[in-house]
Amino acid sequence: VRKIWLSRHGESEYNQKGLIGGNSSLSERGERYSRALPGALIARLPQEQPVSVAVWTSTLKRTIETARFLPFPKLRWKALDEIDAGICDGMTYEQIAERYPQEYEARKKDKLRYRYPSGESYMDVIQRVEPVIIELERERESVLVVAHQAVLRAVYAYFMNVPPEDIPRLSMPLHTLIELTPMPDGTMSEQRFPLD
Ligand code: F6P
Repeated sequence: VRKIWLSRHGESEYNQKGLIGGNSSLSERGERYSRALPGALIARLPQEQPVSVAVWTSTLKRTIETARFLPFPKLRWKALDEIDAGICDGMTYEQIAERYPQEYEARKKDKLRYRYPSGESYMDVIQRVEPVIIELERERESVLVVAHQAVLRAVYAYFMNVPPEDIPRLSMPLHTLIELTPMPDGTMSEQRFPLD
C-alpha cells in the first residue's frame, strides 16, 4: 500500500531561540534528527523488494537539510514554505505580544482567519497547499513530505478530515515521523513515531 509520511524539519536555530519564520539552518539537535530519519523511514518500508519514496521539501534551508541524508529523489515546493508571518517574521511570540498587542490578540481570537500584516493566514496556507495535495493524490509512489508546522497542519487536515477551525491548533511536534496509510473505506489510519 502507498503511504504518505509527514515530518517537520529538524529543530532549527530559530526554533531553538523561539523565533518564528526566517530561513535558518538546523541546530545540532535538528542535525541529529536528519541523520535518524533515513533509518526510521527505511524501517517502515516493505522489506521484500526495493521501493522508492518521493521526498518533497519546501524551498527553505531547514527542510532541505533535514532531507539531506535520505537516499531518494527530492522535489522542492515553494508551496510548502512555512506560513509567512509578515511584519512578525523573526520575532518571538512574546515580542509580538509586546510590540503588536492588537495583532497578538486578533490572532489568538481567530487563528484560522487572522492574516499577519504583509503575510499570510491559515486560510491562505490551506489554499496555497492545494496544488501539492492534488499532486499527492495523483502520485502513485509513497511520498515523504518534509515541511513546517503550519503547512503540515493544513496537509494533515486534508487527509484526516479535520474541520478548518481545528487546523491551527493541531499537534505537529518536531522530530516525529507521521505515517498515513489509506484504509479500504477511504479514510487514513495514522501512526506517529517520535525519533528523539
Ligand atoms: O515556530 C515554528 C513555526 O514554524 C514558525 O515559523 C511559524 O510561524 C509557526 O511555527 C506556525 O505555528 P503557529 O501558527 O502555531 O504560530
